[in-house]
Amino acid sequence: MSTPEPIITDLEKAAAILRRGDLLALPTETVYGLAGDARDDRVVAKIYAAKGRPSFNPLIVHAADTHALRRLGVFNAVADALAKKFWPGPLTMVLPMQPNAGIARLVTANLPTIALRIPAHPMTQALLRRIDFPLAAPSANPSGRISPTTAQHVANYFSADSVAGILDGGPCAVGLESTIIDLSGDVPRILRPGRIGIADLRALLPMVSTAQPDDAVTAPGMLAQHYAPRVPLRLGYDNPCTNEALLAFGPDIPHGFKAVVNLSTRGDVIEAAANLYAALHALDQPEKYNGIATMSLPETDLGQAIHDRLRRAAHTGGSCKT
Ligand code: TXA
Ligand code: MG
Repeated sequence: MSTPEPIITDLEKAAAILRRGDLLALPTETVYGLAGDARDDRVVAKIYAAKGRPSFNPLIVHAADTHALRRLGVFNAVADALAKKFWPGPLTMVLPMQPNAGIARLVTANLPTIALRIPAHPMTQALLRRIDFPLAAPSANPSGRISPTTAQHVANYFSADSVAGILDGGPCAVGLESTIIDLSGDVPRILRPGRIGIADLRALLPMVSTAQPDDAVTAPGMLAQHYAPRVPLRLGYDNPCTNEALLAFGPDIPHGFKAVVNLSTRGDVIEAAANLYAALHALDQPEKYNGIATMSLPETDLGQAIHDRLRRAAHTGGSCKT
């Protein structure tokens, strides 16, 4: 059988894994990423292989600072302003790629654009400074499974055959993947909602638009099954069925469920976002539960970002049958 990959905290060991062209799972403030040298097609191919990811789905490139990213993407005035305001942080910008960016073709899946981000997690910041090359890093889950927000989630997904190490930086503070904004066209477009909401962006960008959820061409990674647990998930919680679990929010919990995991008993959306994927990991046990019912969240930006993930998760799951 395959051996589990070591969970480590030593930055030099982590850097060595990346320098020799192996894959390292690492913490970011959003979710754990499955990282490798973004310049090397063979390394990037290992990422796709480990994730079982369709190869048309491009990856985000991470670096320590804007200086490093200017060599990869063409920044316009809007990109400069957003970088200044939100980086390091949970924002990814899609920009035209620089000629001679030196990025492996597989990273961008042959698109003329590149997705860039500076993660805020201090361990990963320190690691990026140590290695001095950019990292391609999708979320560290097999394609079609829930994003990991702890080192243990990652360890449950992969063996040492595919992932050489997991850098443990504790639970992710944000807990939802970064907001993605596409600045490569005429009008800035949000491709994926996240902690940085449309209101935050509108302060700098009155023109920003939101992509439709089924706009699969420009945001290939927004496929419904990317967020789906194996246990069928439904939006709503009326008429619980046998062995159904509840993903709850707030102090008032309906009765009749086999198990309840509360995203935030005090009704705090930020806490709910941070807990979302850990809660889904905990409830994704087909041998125990027939289904997952969900309570609704406030209609704030972040509440909607959480709903966006739940809607995608529910899409393929359907509801449980008794
Ligand atoms: O928070 C995050 O963004 C995490 C951490 C690890 O940084 N990463 C992450 O990566 O969520 P991933 O691969 O699971 O999602 C990347 C998204 C996908 O939806 C992909 O389609 C989109 O970014 N993307 C990447 N490059 C793109 C491009 N050039 N144009 C449009 N979308 C792009
Ligand atoms: Mg992902």
